[in-house]
Amino acid sequence: MGFSLQALLLAVTATQALASCAHGTFLSPRAEDGTVKVNKFGYTGLNGPLNWASLESPANIGCATGTHQSPIDMIDGQFTLMKSSDIQLSIPDIPEGAEFENLGTTVEVIAKGGTLKVDNKDFELQQFHFHLPSEHLDNGTSQAMEMHMVFQSTQQEVAVIGVYINIAPPSTTNNNNNANANNSTLTPTPFLESIFSTITSITTPGTKTTTPALPLSSTLQTLLTAQSNTFQSYSGSLTTPPCTEGVRWFVSAARMAIAPETFLKVRDVIGFNSRFPQNKLGEPNILMISSLGASKAAVEAMAMGNAQGVVAVAPAPVMVPMGEGGGNGAGRTTVTTTTTMETSAPVVAGTGTGGGMMKVTPARRRAY
Ligand SMILES: *[C@@H]1O[C@H](CO)[C@@H](O)[C@H](O)[C@H]1NC(C)=O
Ligand SMILES: *[C@@H]1O[C@H](CO)[C@@H](O)[C@H](O)[C@H]1NC(C)=O
Ligand SMILES: *[C@@H]1O[C@H](CO)[C@@H](O)[C@H](O)[C@H]1NC(C)=O
Repeated sequence: MGFSLQALLLAVTATQALASCAHGTFLSPRAEDGTVKVNKFGYTGLNGPLNWASLESPANIGCATGTHQSPIDMIDGQFTLMKSSDIQLSIPDIPEGAEFENLGTTVEVIAKGGTLKVDNKDFELQQFHFHLPSEHLDNGTSQAMEMHMVFQSTQQEVAVIGVYINIAPPSTTNNNNNANANNSTLTPTPFLESIFSTITSITTPGTKTTTPALPLSSTLQTLLTAQSNTFQSYSGSLTTPPCTEGVRWFVSAARMAIAPETFLKVRDVIGFNSRFPQNKLGEPNILMISSLGASKAAVEAMAMGNAQGVVAVAPAPVMVPMGEGGGNGAGRTTVTTTTTMETSAPVVAGTGTGGGMMKVTPARRRAY
Protein backbone atom coordinates (compact mmCIF):
# COMPACT_ATOMS: atom_id res chain seq x y z
CA MET A 1 0.00 0.00 0.00
CA GLY A 2 2.59 2.51 1.11
CA PHE A 3 4.80 1.38 -1.72
CA SER A 4 2.28 1.68 -4.53
CA LEU A 5 1.10 5.02 -3.20
CA GLN A 6 4.67 6.26 -3.29
CA ALA A 7 4.98 5.12 -6.88
CA LEU A 8 1.76 6.86 -7.84
CA LEU A 9 2.84 10.10 -6.22
CA LEU A 10 6.11 9.97 -8.10
CA ALA A 11 4.16 9.42 -11.29
CA VAL A 12 2.15 12.52 -10.45
CA THR A 13 5.27 14.64 -10.14
CA ALA A 14 6.60 13.29 -13.38
CA THR A 15 3.50 13.67 -15.51
CA GLN A 16 2.27 17.09 -14.35
CA ALA A 17 -1.38 17.99 -14.50
CA LEU A 18 -3.82 20.80 -13.96
CA ALA A 19 -2.86 22.75 -10.89
CA SER A 20 -3.78 26.29 -10.12
CA CYS A 21 -1.91 26.07 -6.85
CA ALA A 22 1.20 25.16 -8.79
CA HIS A 23 0.32 27.17 -11.88
CA GLY A 24 3.46 28.51 -13.50
CA THR A 25 5.64 25.90 -11.82
CA PHE A 26 6.98 22.69 -13.38
CA LEU A 27 3.73 21.03 -12.21
CA SER A 28 1.56 23.22 -14.40
CA PRO A 29 3.49 25.30 -16.92
CA ARG A 30 1.87 28.47 -18.18
CA ALA A 31 0.59 28.40 -21.78
CA GLU A 32 3.33 29.65 -24.09
CA ASP A 33 1.00 31.62 -26.34
CA GLY A 34 0.01 33.87 -23.43
CA THR A 35 -3.55 32.56 -23.14
CA VAL A 36 -4.96 31.92 -19.70
CA LYS A 37 -5.61 28.22 -19.07
CA VAL A 38 -8.89 27.77 -17.22
CA ASN A 39 -8.83 24.96 -14.67
CA LYS A 40 -11.29 22.07 -15.03
CA PHE A 41 -11.58 21.17 -11.37
CA GLY A 42 -13.86 23.12 -9.07
CA TYR A 43 -15.03 23.44 -5.49
CA THR A 44 -18.61 22.13 -5.53
CA GLY A 45 -20.41 18.98 -6.63
CA LEU A 46 -18.71 16.43 -8.84
CA ASN A 47 -15.86 18.81 -9.72
CA GLY A 48 -15.28 19.54 -6.04
CA PRO A 49 -12.58 18.30 -3.68
CA LEU A 50 -14.53 15.20 -2.61
CA ASN A 51 -14.16 13.96 -6.19
CA TRP A 52 -10.85 15.44 -7.40
CA ALA A 53 -9.16 12.02 -7.49
CA SER A 54 -11.53 10.71 -10.14
CA LEU A 55 -11.39 13.86 -12.32
CA GLU A 56 -7.97 12.81 -13.54
CA SER A 57 -6.85 9.32 -12.67
CA PRO A 58 -4.30 8.26 -11.61
CA ALA A 59 -2.66 11.71 -11.58
CA ASN A 60 -4.91 13.03 -8.80
CA ILE A 61 -4.87 9.92 -6.59
CA GLY A 62 -2.95 11.76 -3.84
CA CYS A 63 -6.02 13.96 -3.25
CA ALA A 64 -7.86 10.91 -1.90
CA THR A 65 -5.03 8.83 -0.43
CA GLY A 66 -2.28 11.24 0.63
CA THR A 67 -1.54 11.42 4.34
CA HIS A 68 0.20 14.81 4.35
CA GLN A 69 -2.43 16.88 2.60
CA SER A 70 -3.10 20.61 2.82
CA PRO A 71 -4.78 22.70 4.04
CA ILE A 72 -4.91 21.75 7.73
CA ASP A 73 -6.13 23.27 10.94
CA MET A 74 -3.05 24.98 12.38
CA ILE A 75 -3.28 23.60 15.88
CA ASP A 76 -0.44 22.88 18.29
CA GLY A 77 1.64 19.89 17.18
CA GLN A 78 0.94 20.31 13.45
CA PHE A 79 3.71 22.79 12.68
CA THR A 80 7.13 24.08 13.65
CA LEU A 81 7.30 27.74 14.59
CA MET A 82 9.98 29.60 12.64
CA LYS A 83 11.29 33.08 13.23
CA SER A 84 11.23 35.50 10.30
CA SER A 85 15.04 35.47 10.47
CA ASP A 86 15.03 31.71 9.70
CA ILE A 87 14.09 32.53 6.12
CA GLN A 88 15.56 35.05 3.71
CA LEU A 89 12.90 36.68 1.64
CA SER A 90 13.17 39.33 -1.04
CA ILE A 91 10.08 40.59 -2.88
CA PRO A 92 11.00 43.36 -5.32
CA ASP A 93 8.58 46.05 -6.49
CA ILE A 94 6.79 45.59 -9.81
CA PRO A 95 6.65 49.23 -11.00
CA GLU A 96 5.24 48.33 -14.42
CA GLY A 97 2.39 46.31 -12.86
CA ALA A 98 1.87 42.57 -13.14
CA GLU A 99 -0.38 40.32 -15.17
CA PHE A 100 -3.53 39.42 -13.23
CA GLU A 101 -5.46 36.37 -14.47
CA ASN A 102 -8.79 34.70 -13.78
CA LEU A 103 -8.14 30.92 -13.85
CA GLY A 104 -11.73 29.99 -13.08
CA THR A 105 -10.61 28.51 -9.77
CA THR A 106 -8.75 31.54 -8.43
CA VAL A 107 -7.37 34.93 -9.45
CA GLU A 108 -3.61 35.00 -9.81
CA VAL A 109 -0.88 37.63 -10.05
CA ILE A 110 2.16 36.64 -12.14
CA ALA A 111 4.80 38.09 -9.83
CA LYS A 112 8.37 37.24 -10.78
CA GLY A 113 11.66 38.24 -9.23
CA GLY A 114 11.00 37.28 -5.62
CA THR A 115 13.38 34.90 -3.84
CA LEU A 116 13.13 32.73 -0.76
CA LYS A 117 16.07 31.03 0.90
CA VAL A 118 15.44 28.50 3.61
CA ASP A 119 17.64 25.67 4.91
CA ASN A 120 20.18 26.66 2.26
CA LYS A 121 17.71 26.03 -0.54
CA ASP A 122 16.88 28.75 -3.04
CA PHE A 123 13.36 29.21 -4.33
CA GLU A 124 11.99 31.68 -6.87
CA LEU A 125 8.57 33.29 -6.71
CA GLN A 126 6.30 32.28 -9.63
CA GLN A 127 2.93 33.79 -8.74
CA PHE A 128 0.56 34.54 -5.92
CA HIS A 129 -3.14 33.73 -5.86
CA PHE A 130 -6.07 33.99 -3.48
CA HIS A 131 -8.45 31.69 -1.62
CA LEU A 132 -11.79 32.71 -0.15
CA PRO A 133 -12.33 31.87 2.65
CA SER A 134 -8.88 30.95 3.97
CA GLU A 135 -7.83 27.33 3.40
CA HIS A 136 -5.76 26.94 6.56
CA LEU A 137 -7.62 27.42 9.80
CA ASP A 138 -5.97 29.55 12.43
CA ASN A 139 -6.35 27.24 15.41
CA GLY A 140 -9.87 26.31 14.37
CA THR A 141 -10.91 29.64 12.88
CA SER A 142 -11.23 30.44 9.18
CA GLN A 143 -10.09 33.85 7.99
CA ALA A 144 -11.72 36.00 5.32
CA MET A 145 -9.11 35.14 2.68
CA GLU A 146 -5.65 33.65 2.27
CA MET A 147 -2.92 34.60 -0.21
CA HIS A 148 -0.58 31.86 -1.44
CA MET A 149 2.84 32.90 -2.71
CA VAL A 150 4.14 29.97 -4.76
CA PHE A 151 7.92 29.44 -5.02
CA GLN A 152 9.87 26.82 -6.96
CA SER A 153 13.48 25.69 -6.57
CA THR A 154 15.81 24.65 -9.37
CA GLN A 155 15.43 21.09 -8.02
CA GLN A 156 11.70 21.49 -8.73
CA GLU A 157 10.61 21.66 -5.12
CA VAL A 158 7.65 23.83 -4.21
CA ALA A 159 7.41 26.16 -1.20
CA VAL A 160 4.37 28.27 -0.43
CA ILE A 161 4.02 31.23 1.93
CA GLY A 162 0.44 31.63 3.14
CA VAL A 163 -0.75 35.00 4.41
CA TYR A 164 -4.21 35.46 5.96
CA ILE A 165 -6.26 38.44 4.81
CA ASN A 166 -8.65 40.08 7.23
CA ILE A 167 -11.56 42.43 6.47
CA ALA A 168 -10.55 45.82 7.83
CA PRO A 169 -13.10 47.41 10.17
CA PRO A 170 -15.03 50.12 8.24
CA SER A 171 -13.79 52.80 10.64
CA THR A 172 -10.20 52.35 9.49
CA THR A 173 -10.81 52.48 5.78
CA ASN A 174 -11.92 56.10 5.44
CA ASN A 175 -9.46 57.55 7.83
CA ASN A 176 -5.73 57.46 7.20
CA ASN A 177 -4.86 59.04 10.48
CA ASN A 178 -6.15 56.66 13.08
CA ALA A 179 -4.75 54.57 15.90
CA ASN A 180 -4.79 51.43 13.75
CA ALA A 181 -2.78 52.91 10.92
CA ASN A 182 0.27 50.77 11.65
CA ASN A 183 -1.59 47.54 12.23
CA SER A 184 -1.63 45.45 9.02
CA THR A 185 -4.53 43.36 10.34
CA LEU A 186 -6.77 46.40 10.70
CA THR A 187 -5.79 48.70 7.84
CA PRO A 188 -6.24 47.86 4.15
CA THR A 189 -2.94 46.73 2.62
CA PRO A 190 -2.20 49.21 -0.22
CA PHE A 191 -0.80 46.70 -2.76
CA LEU A 192 -3.83 44.40 -2.29
CA GLU A 193 -6.17 47.33 -2.86
CA SER A 194 -4.17 48.13 -6.04
CA ILE A 195 -4.47 44.56 -7.34
CA PHE A 196 -8.15 44.25 -6.56
CA SER A 197 -8.95 47.66 -8.08
CA THR A 198 -8.70 45.82 -11.42
CA ILE A 199 -10.66 42.68 -10.53
CA THR A 200 -13.87 43.90 -12.18
CA SER A 201 -12.11 43.65 -15.57
CA ILE A 202 -11.41 39.92 -15.13
CA THR A 203 -14.78 38.64 -13.94
CA THR A 204 -14.81 35.99 -16.71
CA PRO A 205 -12.61 32.89 -16.39
CA GLY A 206 -9.82 32.97 -18.95
CA THR A 207 -9.45 36.76 -18.95
CA LYS A 208 -6.46 38.80 -17.80
CA THR A 209 -5.50 42.38 -17.12
CA THR A 210 -2.52 44.34 -15.79
CA THR A 211 -2.39 45.68 -12.24
CA PRO A 212 -1.18 49.17 -11.33
CA ALA A 213 2.40 49.44 -10.01
CA LEU A 214 2.91 47.05 -7.08
CA PRO A 215 5.14 48.42 -4.31
CA LEU A 216 5.85 45.01 -2.80
CA SER A 217 9.18 45.57 -1.03
CA SER A 218 7.90 48.26 1.33
CA THR A 219 4.67 46.38 2.06
CA LEU A 220 4.68 42.61 1.60
CA GLN A 221 8.39 42.05 2.18
CA THR A 222 8.49 44.40 5.17
CA LEU A 223 5.44 42.77 6.71
CA LEU A 224 6.74 39.22 6.34
CA THR A 225 10.34 39.88 7.34
CA ALA A 226 9.53 42.03 10.39
CA GLN A 227 11.48 40.83 13.40
CA SER A 228 8.25 40.23 15.29
CA ASN A 229 6.84 37.93 12.59
CA THR A 230 6.83 34.13 12.79
CA PHE A 231 5.84 31.36 10.39
CA GLN A 232 3.99 28.13 11.12
CA SER A 233 5.91 25.65 8.99
CA TYR A 234 5.04 22.09 7.95
CA SER A 235 5.40 19.73 5.01
CA GLY A 236 2.08 19.31 3.19
CA SER A 237 0.68 19.35 -0.33
CA LEU A 238 -0.76 21.49 -3.08
CA THR A 239 -4.32 22.39 -2.05
CA THR A 240 -5.50 21.81 -5.63
CA PRO A 241 -5.22 18.80 -7.96
CA PRO A 242 -2.96 16.85 -8.27
CA CYS A 243 -2.50 17.47 -4.50
CA THR A 244 1.23 16.64 -4.81
CA GLU A 245 2.96 16.26 -1.43
CA GLY A 246 6.38 17.46 -0.33
CA VAL A 247 5.29 21.12 -0.45
CA ARG A 248 6.97 23.27 2.22
CA TRP A 249 4.40 25.51 3.87
CA PHE A 250 5.07 28.73 5.76
CA VAL A 251 1.93 30.32 7.17
CA SER A 252 2.64 33.86 8.33
CA ALA A 253 1.53 35.17 11.70
CA ALA A 254 1.50 38.72 10.29
CA ARG A 255 -1.66 39.34 8.28
CA MET A 256 -2.96 41.73 5.71
CA ALA A 257 -6.36 43.38 5.36
CA ILE A 258 -8.71 44.66 2.68
CA ALA A 259 -11.56 47.16 2.87
CA PRO A 260 -15.06 45.65 3.29
CA GLU A 261 -16.19 46.92 -0.13
CA THR A 262 -13.08 45.39 -1.74
CA PHE A 263 -13.85 42.08 -0.07
CA LEU A 264 -17.36 42.11 -1.59
CA LYS A 265 -15.99 42.80 -5.08
CA VAL A 266 -13.44 40.00 -4.78
CA ARG A 267 -16.00 37.59 -3.36
CA ASP A 268 -18.30 38.21 -6.32
CA VAL A 269 -15.52 37.12 -8.69
CA ILE A 270 -13.91 34.25 -6.74
CA GLY A 271 -17.13 32.91 -5.25
CA PHE A 272 -15.76 30.07 -3.14
CA ASN A 273 -12.43 28.31 -3.58
CA SER A 274 -11.35 26.63 -0.39
CA ARG A 275 -10.48 22.92 -0.10
CA PHE A 276 -11.87 21.44 3.13
CA PRO A 277 -9.38 21.07 6.01
CA GLN A 278 -7.55 17.76 5.70
CA ASN A 279 -6.82 15.18 8.36
CA LYS A 280 -3.92 15.69 10.75
CA LEU A 281 -0.49 15.17 9.21
CA GLY A 282 0.40 11.48 9.01
CA GLU A 283 -3.14 10.28 9.64
CA PRO A 284 -5.16 8.45 6.95
CA ASN A 285 -6.82 10.58 4.28
CA ILE A 286 -10.37 11.49 5.33
CA LEU A 287 -11.72 10.42 1.94
CA MET A 288 -10.42 6.88 2.43
CA ILE A 289 -11.89 6.64 5.91
CA SER A 290 -15.15 8.06 4.65
CA SER A 291 -15.50 5.72 1.68
CA LEU A 292 -14.74 2.71 3.87
CA GLY A 293 -17.36 3.91 6.34
CA ALA A 294 -19.93 4.36 3.59
CA SER A 295 -19.22 0.87 2.21
CA LYS A 296 -19.57 -0.70 5.64
CA ALA A 297 -22.82 1.11 6.23
CA ALA A 298 -24.15 -0.04 2.86
CA VAL A 299 -23.24 -3.65 3.53
CA GLU A 300 -24.86 -3.49 6.96
CA ALA A 301 -28.01 -2.00 5.53
CA MET A 302 -28.17 -4.86 3.02
CA ALA A 303 -27.56 -7.43 5.74
CA MET A 304 -30.45 -5.98 7.70
CA GLY A 305 -32.73 -6.32 4.72
CA ASN A 306 -32.90 -2.61 4.21
CA ALA A 307 -32.35 -2.88 0.50
CA GLN A 308 -34.49 0.17 -0.16
CA GLY A 309 -31.78 2.37 1.25
CA VAL A 310 -29.17 1.05 -1.11
CA VAL A 311 -29.23 1.04 -4.88
CA ALA A 312 -25.94 -0.70 -5.53
CA VAL A 313 -23.44 -2.59 -3.45
CA ALA A 314 -20.87 -3.84 -5.90
CA PRO A 315 -18.46 -2.71 -7.13
CA ALA A 316 -18.95 0.76 -5.64
CA PRO A 317 -21.65 1.15 -2.99
CA VAL A 318 -23.76 4.23 -3.60
CA MET A 319 -25.82 5.70 -0.82
CA VAL A 320 -29.12 7.26 -1.69
CA PRO A 321 -31.49 9.22 0.51
CA MET A 322 -33.71 6.92 2.50
CA GLY A 323 -37.47 7.07 3.04
CA GLU A 324 -39.83 9.75 1.89
CA GLY A 325 -38.26 13.16 1.95
CA GLY A 326 -35.05 11.89 3.51
CA GLY A 327 -31.70 13.26 2.56
CA ASN A 328 -32.84 16.29 0.64
CA GLY A 329 -30.35 18.38 2.48
CA ALA A 330 -33.07 20.55 3.97
CA GLY A 331 -32.76 19.78 7.63
CA ARG A 332 -32.94 16.72 9.76
CA THR A 333 -35.16 13.82 8.81
CA THR A 334 -35.73 10.72 10.85
CA VAL A 335 -36.66 7.65 8.89
CA THR A 336 -38.01 4.50 10.46
CA THR A 337 -37.79 1.42 8.32
CA THR A 338 -39.33 -1.95 8.97
CA THR A 339 -37.30 -5.09 8.97
CA THR A 340 -38.17 -8.74 9.23
CA MET A 341 -34.82 -9.95 10.43
CA GLU A 342 -32.76 -9.58 13.57
CA THR A 343 -34.15 -7.44 16.34
CA SER A 344 -37.18 -5.33 16.93
CA ALA A 345 -35.04 -2.34 17.78
CA PRO A 346 -35.24 0.68 15.49
CA VAL A 347 -32.90 0.00 12.66
CA VAL A 348 -31.86 3.13 10.93
CA ALA A 349 -32.12 6.82 11.60
CA GLY A 350 -30.99 8.88 8.64
CA THR A 351 -30.09 12.51 9.00
CA GLY A 352 -31.07 14.59 6.01
CA THR A 353 -28.17 16.99 6.14
CA GLY A 354 -25.68 14.45 4.91
CA GLY A 355 -27.78 13.59 1.88
CA GLY A 356 -28.28 9.96 2.81
CA MET A 357 -25.93 9.59 5.76
CA MET A 358 -26.91 6.69 7.91
CA LYS A 359 -26.65 6.04 11.56
CA VAL A 360 -26.96 2.52 12.89
CA THR A 361 -28.21 1.61 16.32
CA PRO A 362 -25.66 1.22 19.10
CA ALA A 363 -26.03 -2.56 18.95
CA ARG A 364 -25.01 -2.58 15.31
CA ARG A 365 -22.33 0.03 15.67
CA ARG A 366 -20.37 -2.21 18.03
CA ALA A 367 -19.71 -4.47 15.08
CA TYR A 368 -17.44 -1.81 13.50
C1 LIG B 1 -5.14 27.15 20.21
O1 LIG B 1 -6.16 27.38 21.16
C2 LIG B 1 -5.96 26.66 22.37
C3 LIG B 1 -7.19 26.86 23.22
O2 LIG B 1 -7.50 28.22 23.36
C4 LIG B 1 -4.69 27.13 23.02
O3 LIG B 1 -4.47 26.41 24.21
C5 LIG B 1 -3.52 26.88 22.06
O4 LIG B 1 -2.32 27.37 22.59
C6 LIG B 1 -3.78 27.56 20.72
N1 LIG B 1 -2.76 27.13 19.79
C7 LIG B 1 -2.25 27.94 18.88
C8 LIG B 1 -1.29 27.33 17.94
O5 LIG B 1 -2.57 29.12 18.78
C1 LIG C 1 3.08 54.53 12.53
O1 LIG C 1 4.47 54.24 12.43
C2 LIG C 1 5.23 55.37 11.98
C3 LIG C 1 6.68 54.90 11.75
O2 LIG C 1 7.06 54.00 12.76
C4 LIG C 1 5.11 56.47 13.02
O3 LIG C 1 5.86 57.62 12.60
C5 LIG C 1 3.63 56.86 13.15
O4 LIG C 1 3.50 57.81 14.19
C6 LIG C 1 2.81 55.64 13.51
N1 LIG C 1 1.38 56.00 13.48
C7 LIG C 1 0.53 55.66 14.43
C8 LIG C 1 -0.89 56.14 14.26
O5 LIG C 1 0.83 54.98 15.39
C1 LIG D 1 -3.37 44.50 15.46
O1 LIG D 1 -4.76 44.26 15.62
C2 LIG D 1 -5.09 42.93 15.96
C3 LIG D 1 -6.60 42.78 15.93
O2 LIG D 1 -7.21 43.70 16.77
C4 LIG D 1 -4.48 42.62 17.32
O3 LIG D 1 -4.77 41.30 17.67
C5 LIG D 1 -2.97 42.81 17.22
O4 LIG D 1 -2.39 42.60 18.48
C6 LIG D 1 -2.63 44.20 16.73
N1 LIG D 1 -1.20 44.26 16.47
C7 LIG D 1 -0.42 45.22 16.93
C8 LIG D 1 1.01 45.13 16.57
O5 LIG D 1 -0.87 46.12 17.63
